[in-house]
Amino acid sequence: MAKVNKLAPGVAETMRLDRFLALASGLSRAQVRPLIKRGAVQVDGQRIRDLAFKVSTDQLVLLSDNPVSLRAPVYLMLNKPAGVVSATEDAEHQTLIDLLPDALRAGVHPAGRLDLDATGLVLLTDDGQWSHRVTSPKRLCSKRYRVELADPLSVAACEAAREQFAQGIMLRGETKLTLPAELIVDSPTQMQILVTEGRYHQVKRMFAAIGNKVVRLHREQIGALVLDADLEPGQFRPLSAAEIAQF
Ligand code: URA
Repeated sequence: MAKVNKLAPGVAETMRLDRFLALASGLSRAQVRPLIKRGAVQVDGQRIRDLAFKVSTDQLVLLSDNPVSLRAPVYLMLNKPAGVVSATEDAEHQTLIDLLPDALRAGVHPAGRLDLDATGLVLLTDDGQWSHRVTSPKRLCSKRYRVELADPLSVAACEAAREQFAQGIMLRGETKLTLPAELIVDSPTQMQILVTEGRYHQVKRMFAAIGNKVVRLHREQIGALVLDADLEPGQFRPLSAAEIAQF
């Protein structure tokens, strides 16, 4: 592989496609030219066969369907506002990617989702292996949510819920109990819950299973990573090397 100094996130540069590919893949220009001509290269979803096509380093370039990049990988924490969809594209709603500057968007995706109405910590990256480590069910990565309930729970009901969640609860339409989850009661309607799975609408369905309704859901922690208290909704910041290495 050629020695390439990766560009810092947010730093874009424009160059010919054959030069870009050679730098990003470690192949020689003579090796990449036939690949481009054969149609093995896509730029932002378009197959490009022109060797001199001008590509910017913040575009998404695929060689035989695999991303190739000159950028240093992007790892961000973002405070998701309500009403923003945890996806890269959506016809109806603003997406998490829409909250990022253009230079940080190529190939970046959320490492785990939050419902449209939920708020709080989302991790974003263009490193597919890293996001797999964050979301893989095998890793049992714990997530802590703050929950507001529609109906106050009595002390006895809190105790019962704590036990049910600790033992695992059967969600409607499912056949396997949830894995043990921890419930921390802050008030009759304000709770924190720690879960290690990521089933569809899991936290809302767990409270539905005990006859209640979640009216506010805010994720505050993934693994050991806690959402910065000073990140306003919609704001993001890069993760430090130590934070990236946690996963
Ligand atoms: N549980 C839910 O119900 N919704 C989320 O967005 C995350 C966990």
